[in-house]
Amino acid sequence: MLVRLLALPALALLAVAQSVPQILVYTKTAGYYHESIPTASAAIVRIGTDSGQFNATVSNDDTLFSDDGLAPFKLIAFLSNSDQILTEAGEAALTRWLATTGGSLAGLHPVAACPSPTRL
Ligand SMILES: *[C@@H]1O[C@H](CO)[C@@H](O)[C@H](O)[C@H]1NC(C)=O
Repeated sequence: MLVRLLALPALALLAVAQSVPQILVYTKTAGYYHESIPTASAAIVRIGTDSGQFNATVSNDDTLFSDDGLAPFKLIAFLSNSDQILTEAGEAALTRWLATTGGSLAGLHPVAACPSPTRL
């Protein structure tokens, strides 16, 4: 009984955490690296935390671009990327994610210079 009572607040916290939309801020660069990336990423994370409106995960890990890796996210923000920043499998996963989840893409700074997002 005591265990059950102690577990309830933890479950409640988990439920609240899961109700916040998850955002992926993708920062991979394969060419030019913009020095502003850490500052911009931190600002996006802070806006989400301060407002309580979203939870931003900052990553430059292209292996996140799989069906399971993208599943938690409601929005993917491409931030100051350069050159080829997704594998072919990653591009395919992103295309499926867009087609099936109703998720959104945002492009911040010179995203149009990247082959991947501009092909979508
Ligand atoms: C925010 O995302 C991180 C992963 O980047 C996760 O560990 C954490 O539980 C999330 N928090 C909320 C409130 O959704």
